Amino acid sequence: MQRTPIKDSSQPLSDPHRPHYHFLPPANWMNDPNGLIQWRGVYHLFYQYNPNGPLWGTIHWGHATSVDLVNWQYHPLALVPGPEGYDRDGCWSGCAVDDGGRLTLLYTGKGDDERENLCLARAGQSFEAFEKHPANPLNARAPQAIEAPGFRDPFIWREGDQWLLLLGSGIRDQGGAALLYTSRDLLHWHYQHPLAVGDGSTGEMWECPNFIPLGARHLLIMSALPQVTVLASVGDYADGRFTPDEWQRMDGGDAWYAPQVFFDSQQRPLVIGWIKEERDDQAQQNAGWSGVMSLPRVLSASQGASPFSVAPIPELTRLRATERAVVERLANDDSITLPTNSQGQWEVELLVDQADGMFTLTLEEDGATLTEVVVDLMQRRAHLAGSTESATAWMPFTLPASDPLRITCFFDHSVVECFVQGQASLTKRVYPRALDAVRLRVTSSVAGTAPRLQARVWDMRDATFSEAPAPQR
Ligand code: FRU
Repeated sequence: MQRTPIKDSSQPLSDPHRPHYHFLPPANWMNDPNGLIQWRGVYHLFYQYNPNGPLWGTIHWGHATSVDLVNWQYHPLALVPGPEGYDRDGCWSGCAVDDGGRLTLLYTGKGDDERENLCLARAGQSFEAFEKHPANPLNARAPQAIEAPGFRDPFIWREGDQWLLLLGSGIRDQGGAALLYTSRDLLHWHYQHPLAVGDGSTGEMWECPNFIPLGARHLLIMSALPQVTVLASVGDYADGRFTPDEWQRMDGGDAWYAPQVFFDSQQRPLVIGWIKEERDDQAQQNAGWSGVMSLPRVLSASQGASPFSVAPIPELTRLRATERAVVERLANDDSITLPTNSQGQWEVELLVDQADGMFTLTLEEDGATLTEVVVDLMQRRAHLAGSTESATAWMPFTLPASDPLRITCFFDHSVVECFVQGQASLTKRVYPRALDAVRLRVTSSVAGTAPRLQARVWDMRDATFSEAPAPQR
């Protein structure tokens, strides 16, 4: 692994493409969210982090906390690779659990022998320091016969008096798999069988499995390789086995990856994903940082086209500042430019009468398209178009005949997150040359009576990112 020099941390702050209300570390590389948990009332977000530069490598666990999932406090690194061999090549993804009052992390130790090891670390008196357990690496292993292409990213839950754990893996010549283990003490693990195995069409290796009850059913989420796509399915869970109905993409863009789900104290299933850069390595080096977390989203069961819904958490409304409103009728081929601000930090909510046709939201800079969200009202589906990315998926949504269509879009310097009907998400990165030249235009392609469009546009405030106070001596 190549080490990259530590960059001056003032450099990332001057980058106009650096988001102001999405979570990211002060500098350097970040990928997956890890160890999401609300513990003693405080939300904890750990993350894959390279303190040595803005490209992937020497992976540590960064750590931040929040009381509202909007404003964040940074803490010292939670996990550092080594000195033992079992995690000397990196502390890769994993989860957090409250073990009888102790904040406990289960993570993937990337060994200096290339192995992926299940490891455990516990918080001491405070949650500022984590101690790796002397029993590391723990005894969970992939069965030899499956010739697993990987064995990582533990995800845990409790059933009765046991812990259940998934590890992301795959079975040679079959497909990606989530392997199920049980334990009574978090230290000694017993392999059961796969919770689910793909048929190859969903990839060879499932990274970052997540498994939760959702409504009366269950939801399995994984990040499929080699597609590098997040797939999810609702299905039936019995006797430690999950039967998926149908795999669907969880986001209509290519930027959102390796999400993690957790329940907070209100029993909301919340999900945060890593939003990757969509600019090249050199640009990331020059910027001094890479990667940002998505806005926290809440999952819910839904009926109809999409078996689950994903919407931004309501807490985000506290970032709203000045509001501007527009009401207009949009005839076929008409378009309207919305009054977004020139600082690159806004939220837009559109309510549109139902009509037979499409609406297109074009994010543009001096008339050139940065990205485009197309909403097809006839077929009740939306996708990202008009960018140089590979064609992205149509995301289905459900819309009762009497309701207006509702689209919410967040823009934060280089991050675009759009939600259609509080159900389908579309995530994209754009890198405008000048933020004050960025506009959002809505175009109608509908036959017949011009539908009414109501837009509300908010300036978004910066979220706060503070350093944790030095520990008391
Ligand atoms: C997903 C992933 C995980 C792994 C981690 C390493 O992005 O590849 O499977 O644990 O990142 O940083």
